Amino acid sequence: MAYSRVSDANEITARYMDSILIKERLIDSIVADTSVSLFGEQLASPVMTPAFSHLKQFNGRELTGLEEYSVAAKNLNILNFVGMMENDMFQRIIDTGAKTVRIVKPYADNAKVMDQMKFAEDAGAFGIGMDIDHIFGNDGLDVVIGEQMAVQTSDMIRSYIESTSLPFFIKGVLSEEEAVKCADLGARAVIVSHHHGRLPYAVPPMKILPAIKKALEGRDVKIIVDCGISSGADVYKCLALGADAAAVGRSMLPSLEEGGVDGAQKFIKGVNDELRYIMSCTGFARVSDIDDSCLVM
Ligand SMILES: Cc1cc2nc3c(=O)[nH]c(=O)nc-3n(C[C@H](O)[C@H](O)[C@H](O)COP(=O)(O)O)c2cc1C
Repeated sequence: MAYSRVSDANEITARYMDSILIKERLIDSIVADTSVSLFGEQLASPVMTPAFSHLKQFNGRELTGLEEYSVAAKNLNILNFVGMMENDMFQRIIDTGAKTVRIVKPYADNAKVMDQMKFAEDAGAFGIGMDIDHIFGNDGLDVVIGEQMAVQTSDMIRSYIESTSLPFFIKGVLSEEEAVKCADLGARAVIVSHHHGRLPYAVPPMKILPAIKKALEGRDVKIIVDCGISSGADVYKCLALGADAAAVGRSMLPSLEEGGVDGAQKFIKGVNDELRYIMSCTGFARVSDIDDSCLVM
């Protein structure tokens, strides 16, 4: 008999997400409100855009995919994220008017890290951060599109955090120990993620959320989650398990590619509408009320 094992963290995450079911509580429930206050900002939804990079113009349109989803984020009044890019591209993102967090790569060229973070702050970014899960590759340290990555020490990360007055986001946190380290270093948010499956057998971010939530109790650190999130039900489950917000990812790409700003906007609005529906059906009037009491696991 054939014996197959699946090490793909994306598939393991999807299976885990689908194994979580939702109970109903309808009597006395009202139409829920999905707005949230995060980092002192009033946002329409806890749904966020993913920290993407390298999206070109789709179907010959004028704006790159990165700018298109940023415009969608602005129109929807949600928090916007972008990843690896040079400063001129980041300026174009800022010009969309979206409240944007710039996730800078762990470049070996530390002057480049500092320059990109300072540029982001001067340009009016909402926050800055780093994806620490893109340091290592199969040959040792990773090379991403020709750029050498490097080990990031606690002292280095502390220096980034101390160099800015903006909230600092550490992306790629997948253990309680690392979450506590981020809090100790002064991060204002952790993004719980396996970066679409970079680590074989990575624990699904949703599965580690309760432990991270517990480990960060009493600390002023927000918990954002991504990986495999494609619906309002997925976002609901993440919030119930301890996240403050959740980012869609590759699930947004077909709508973005086909419909540009409108496509991305409709997709994210659909995710938020389903979140509101499930909150209403489970008796949670506000995002901050959501807990795991309606999950069956
Ligand atoms: C085209 C593309 C580019 C990405 N670029 C970056 C990046 O530059 N920095 C980063 O932190 N994550 C980057 N990511 C990872 C996403 O931010 C996110 O963690 C991941 O896609 C979530 O998984 P999902 O697509 O299954 O939802 C990228 C993902 C894709 C698909």
